[in-house]
Amino acid sequence: MHHLHQSPGTPPEAVHVMRDPANGLEGVIVLHSTRLGPAAGGCRLWRYPDAAAAATDALRLAEGMAYKNALADLPLGGGKAVIRLPQGKFDRAALFRAFGREVERLEGRYLTAEDVGTGVADMEWVRTETAHVAGLPAAQGAVGGDPSPWTALGVLSAMEEAVRRRHGSGLAGATVAVQGLGHVGTHLCELLASVGARLVVADVDPGRAAACAARFDAQLVAPDAILDVPCDVFAPCALGGVLDERGVVRLKAEIVCGAANNVLASDADGLRLAKRGVLYCPDYVVNSGGIINVCAEHLGWSRAEVERRVGQTGERLRAVLDHAEQRSLAPHRAANALAQARIAVGYTASAQAA
Ligand code: NAI
Repeated sequence: MHHLHQSPGTPPEAVHVMRDPANGLEGVIVLHSTRLGPAAGGCRLWRYPDAAAAATDALRLAEGMAYKNALADLPLGGGKAVIRLPQGKFDRAALFRAFGREVERLEGRYLTAEDVGTGVADMEWVRTETAHVAGLPAAQGAVGGDPSPWTALGVLSAMEEAVRRRHGSGLAGATVAVQGLGHVGTHLCELLASVGARLVVADVDPGRAAACAARFDAQLVAPDAILDVPCDVFAPCALGGVLDERGVVRLKAEIVCGAANNVLASDADGLRLAKRGVLYCPDYVVNSGGIINVCAEHLGWSRAEVERRVGQTGERLRAVLDHAEQRSLAPHRAANALAQARIAVGYTASAQAA
């Protein structure tokens, strides 16, 4: 798996370079768009070969967030922070406090939260320096905390819509291959098991994979083999770029619907999937549950409002897939076109409804 992806193509509003060697901080904050609201998107802490690779990843991820937030009807723009994982031992508190100061310098134009490699504790360090952070531990009954159960719930809603569209049936008895059994993958398995789907699972962490297989009575396969599993739905919940030229050819699923960001290695891979008759549910359309919860936390929406909006994920997917059919577009291109149009038009009344 790799982290360099072709961008769907619009340039960012701003790129903020972070360099604070005393605290181990090196990375970028990309503000793709603030047209619909503050540029919201998580902070990724990951290994990159060089600064350019980190920046490329951030650019692509920030654009994806702008499109995700726009299509989820949120009053948010899109952005992303990428921090290069320091070599060797480092002071995590100092690193995230330094990051918090960078977020603060952007004066609310960027709103951060967790992403791959960062967690709730890190965001608490960020909070000591800035208020422009979400994903903090929630008070009893309040909205906040780990967004991944919401992401999983939204993916389920989308998957139900996709299976209904393709097979005219529900998920009971359908076979779903889940790649990656981390925060979202595990919650998704739990939801899928509860609706009677048959699970095939894989994770590069053998202990995690075995535990999940036992817990949900799932078939366990090697990480390399999950793409080759004949199934109704392939649910990528690990890292991006799994559907590249080789992956598309290997895939034996009818539908792709999962939480991972940037599932398609390139635009061309989305076209290849469509040509092969695979129904691709655009990643950022189906994985918006987490950012809906983050938005609710930041703007003070109720839990009921989060439930309502996450539960509408399937309906939002339907609108994108209908648009794709009407215009003879591959679904990922239909989603990009709808998102770009919405950003160009600006704030919508429906986004403010809550
Ligand atoms: P996580 O880090 O908790 O879980 C990822 C899992 O994938 C880990 O168990 C890891 O061992 C496994 N993995 C890595 N490479 C693999 C491979 N080649 N084959 C099989 N398993 C592999 O991450 P989390 O939070 O569950 O997120 C999963 C994906 O969903 C990421 O792409 C993330 O960007 C995306 N996402 C997550 C959201 C959230 O609410 N956590 C929201 C929207 C998107």
